[in-house]
Amino acid sequence: GGSREGCGRDSCKERIMDIAVIGGGGREHAIIKALKHSKGVSHIYALPGNGGIAEDAECIAIGAKELDAIVDFAVEKKINYVVVAPDDPLVLGLVDMLDEKGIPCFGPDKAAAIIEGSKAFSKRLMKKYGIPTASYEIFDDMDAALKYIETCPIPTVIKADGLALGKGVIIAETRDEARVGLRTIMEDKKFGASGDTVVIEEFLDGPEVSVLSFTDGKVVRPMVSSMDHKRAQDGDKGLNTGGMGTVAPNPYYTPEIAEECMTKIFLPTIKAMAEEVFKGCLYFGLMITEDGPKVIEYNSRFGDPETQVVLPLLDGDLLEIMRATTDGTLADVDFTFRDEAACCVVAASDGYPVAYEKGFEITLPDEHEHIYIAGSKLVDGKQVTSGGRVLGVVETAETLGEAIDKAYAKLEEVHFDNMYFRKDIGTKALEALK
Ligand code: AMP
Ligand code: GLY
Repeated sequence: GGSREGCGRDSCKERIMDIAVIGGGGREHAIIKALKHSKGVSHIYALPGNGGIAEDAECIAIGAKELDAIVDFAVEKKINYVVVAPDDPLVLGLVDMLDEKGIPCFGPDKAAAIIEGSKAFSKRLMKKYGIPTASYEIFDDMDAALKYIETCPIPTVIKADGLALGKGVIIAETRDEARVGLRTIMEDKKFGASGDTVVIEEFLDGPEVSVLSFTDGKVVRPMVSSMDHKRAQDGDKGLNTGGMGTVAPNPYYTPEIAEECMTKIFLPTIKAMAEEVFKGCLYFGLMITEDGPKVIEYNSRFGDPETQVVLPLLDGDLLEIMRATTDGTLADVDFTFRDEAACCVVAASDGYPVAYEKGFEITLPDEHEHIYIAGSKLVDGKQVTSGGRVLGVVETAETLGEAIDKAYAKLEEVHFDNMYFRKDIGTKALEALK
């Protein structure tokens, strides 16, 4: 940030915003790329960022869960606005801590982030306000839960109450799997204290849709819909991952479904959060069942890798939108999503999500504006792999088919040893369009 002295005009202040983005994955890279095009941004810090983000922001070696260090840094550097991207710092209350220092943030405070932080909270909220979701029971006593499992419908779904890196969900096809699954969560504490309480819920069937939305607690403005590909292997086989690719828009999210979601899910959720006013990005994980759309989960943040296909289609100023969610003026901001399609193919280290080698040099094509880096670090000025998901190649086009072809063509220009990616990102969406 340069000198702030001697310019009292608003238009001048607008031009010298120093921003900090918390997090260091592909989602954060996509957010930072979009913020670079926003009016008024003078400098972007990423905490901690990664080797690829370093091309677009100044990376500071402070982890997303080091809340005190983040606050000290923001105060010392007189940061004007902080974008808190990952779930952990939101649920731990980073927004509240920064707010106390007078630093405005994008993201919900601790009280509102509980909509993702506790599945028991979100299920009770949906029941109370008649928001469609899988029917469920909540247990904090393992014997009672074990007893319930003997009679509940099978398959059944068992979820640890708290955050579990997106892995705290067990879909049990048999009663025995349910017994074993329950014990791993409640007895072996596979997800730590997150498993002190479990939600056991009805198994739902149907295509899944991700809808991210901006909200200031008063209005909710959905972004373009998207489709995640969570399983590691082609044909939706293999283990659950953080997401191996995405496309937008999601063909199952028709205008009729969108309208139904708005009246039955989005608006009622914002209204239900009257006490814990939610500001930021509210992510609706939906399943389109025979009985209509139902909520699978709420997230209190942008999705990864959904963000990578959603933000490139945004026609608007991301910083202006974000600040409007904080200020409660979201209704006044002009933005839309282009009527195009986007595809993100994730390149991972082979073996992800279980065990994989890292430290391999990454080669990128010269033009890599829309390659979002998730897991790399700089060693002697070169990027080397440092995570399971390494990067996402994103392309947009007029049609989904073209976007998919362009993304896979671009991926051929990316190299690192041990590279693995799914070959069928978007195939299901293309078939649904027929
Ligand atoms: P979550 O961590 O809540 O996103 O759940 C992970 C995945 O488990 C979801 O994306 C769904 O594919 C699946 N899932 C979660 N809840 C249910 C349910 N009630 N019925 C069927 N599948 C579910
Ligand atoms: N892609 C799923 C998530 O961000 O939770």
